[in-house]
Amino acid sequence: IPPSRIRNFGIIAHIDHGKSTLADRLLELTGCLTLRSTTPTLDTLPVERTRGITVKAQAASLFHSGHLLNLIDTPGHADFSNEVSRSMGAMQGVLLLVDATTGVQAQTVAHYLRARGRTVVPVINKVDLPQADVGMVMEQLEEQLGLDVFNMPVLAISAKTGLNVESILPAIIERIPPPEAVVEGTFEATLIDCWFREFRGVVCMIIVRRGAIKPGDSVKSAANERVFVVDEVGILQPELVRTDYLHAGQVGYIRCGMKSTHDALIGDTFYDPAEAIDTTEITIPTKARPIVFAGMFPAVREEYDQVSIAVDKLLLNDSSVSAEKIVSVALGPGWRLGFLGSLHMDVFAQRLEQEFGVNVILTSPNVSYEAIFKDGSAREISSAEEYPSTTELCNVREFREPFVKATLIFPVSNIGPISQLCSESRCGETTIEYLSTDRVLMTADLPLVEIIGDFNDRLLSISAGYASLDYEPASMRSVELVKIGVRLNGDLVDILSTVQPRSRAEPVGRSWVKKLANLLPRQQFPIAVQAVIGTKVIAREDISAVRKDVIAKCVGPNYMVLMCVVWRRQVEKDETTRSPKGRKGPNENVWQGGDS
Ligand code: GTP
Repeated sequence: IPPSRIRNFGIIAHIDHGKSTLADRLLELTGCLTLRSTTPTLDTLPVERTRGITVKAQAASLFHSGHLLNLIDTPGHADFSNEVSRSMGAMQGVLLLVDATTGVQAQTVAHYLRARGRTVVPVINKVDLPQADVGMVMEQLEEQLGLDVFNMPVLAISAKTGLNVESILPAIIERIPPPEAVVEGTFEATLIDCWFREFRGVVCMIIVRRGAIKPGDSVKSAANERVFVVDEVGILQPELVRTDYLHAGQVGYIRCGMKSTHDALIGDTFYDPAEAIDTTEITIPTKARPIVFAGMFPAVREEYDQVSIAVDKLLLNDSSVSAEKIVSVALGPGWRLGFLGSLHMDVFAQRLEQEFGVNVILTSPNVSYEAIFKDGSAREISSAEEYPSTTELCNVREFREPFVKATLIFPVSNIGPISQLCSESRCGETTIEYLSTDRVLMTADLPLVEIIGDFNDRLLSISAGYASLDYEPASMRSVELVKIGVRLNGDLVDILSTVQPRSRAEPVGRSWVKKLANLLPRQQFPIAVQAVIGTKVIAREDISAVRKDVIAKCVGPNYMVLMCVVWRRQVEKDETTRSPKGRKGPNENVWQGGDS
């Protein structure tokens, strides 16, 4: 198929607006799916099915009236926005899907902005619902995104019932331009995504920019100059289907003997090693940096080996997770893991449980701070152990914390309480823009540590679920940082230590000791639970003894394990009372009592 008859497109939408359902209907219409399934086909990870969210970008090659339409699915959550940006590089156009009942939301705007430079085809979904208001959505698209929707045919569909879905295929062919691919010449391709398959190794999803590739050819990576021999090429339907070649303009996969996804850098260029190309002309992408950190331990210490195998396998598959082995006095050996956000962290833990059947304990997430010393050197602080010692502290010029640029859309009536929430969350600059008489768009500079806390839950409760949030990393800003420790009967519990901005120290300390006091079972001796900064006690709770006459003894590591078992049960209980669609809030899988 010549590039002129190829269309590479994606579907962008706010979470839950129906992207995966629509992708399924398109697959069905083009004969890729024969049976109507109840779970979206592009959502292939078990965690995606149970949570109803898309995590990894996947693709499907669809054939329609002599054209090859490559659909690249994109995740909808802010944590995975870098996956959206990277897959966007392969598309010339997007279907901008908007729910006809809730209209344009924060992620509709954020994804629309990320799709800049591409053809946007608006599609209004869920018109089968009685509360659907197509006119309202069209006005929003025109007023809020500047799309000239009233002068183009409106695609009002129901991805669920299939109504009007067939009108999308000709619209893609007519409105989205073909890729600029060069048929002649030596091979060059961009790596869009990669994942690990048991027995098949790493599968690299690529878009061929020039020439063609077939099994037996060699490819060279521009990022690390390694040469790989191609074992297999093919297209995604969405399962892997082998082909003889992949040609210019096509989106497909190659397998080339990579053992781990860490060998691959998303956005990298693969080219023919026989060609002397000037690699300085090629932009080498930067790897997504983890911004949220947590400790992870086997729930049962004896299961360390099983958990370790499972963690290694998942790490092979998700190169955006960073991992470092650690040992806690209380919880034994484990890992300090870095993620792209707290949902990413939650998904990782859930995948360990669902795909490998192991149980883990995650410590409450924190962000990565920075200490800038007087001699100009810097240290990343993503755990309490990295906090400068008392002697080092006098050489610290300043601490810095990560800020994000957040986009919030909510009803005008919520301006007061949401502005209050932002200022309580140590918000920097904000701007407010009226999208219509009843909705506003706020941009706010917010500390990431506030966002990964209960910010979203509070936002949803203030707005009765009508507010939506999207964010992306922005800058590092000066902050006063302290190390908080937790003592049980005077003994410092290493894994409960954390670093926090000064202004959060007391509320965080108070909430931890309170939760710990509720969580720890009463013993035959009293227990003092204290939060401390250095030697200064900032919060205290006392757990009285069951019987008064027993002498107090030290509360040791076994206690912590017991406590974690209690927590584990709590989580299991939560599993049965989850919100609709099986989705949980970002932090519900984590014991919120403290840093463990
Ligand atoms: P993420 O992958 O999490 O971003 O979600 P998504 O945008 O892929 O949404 P998904 O396709 O999972 O749909 C969300 C919910 O809306 C599901 O319960 C769907 O069944 C439902 N849904 C999707 N399309 C329609 C529609 O046209 N009408 C109705 N009534 N429900 C729909």
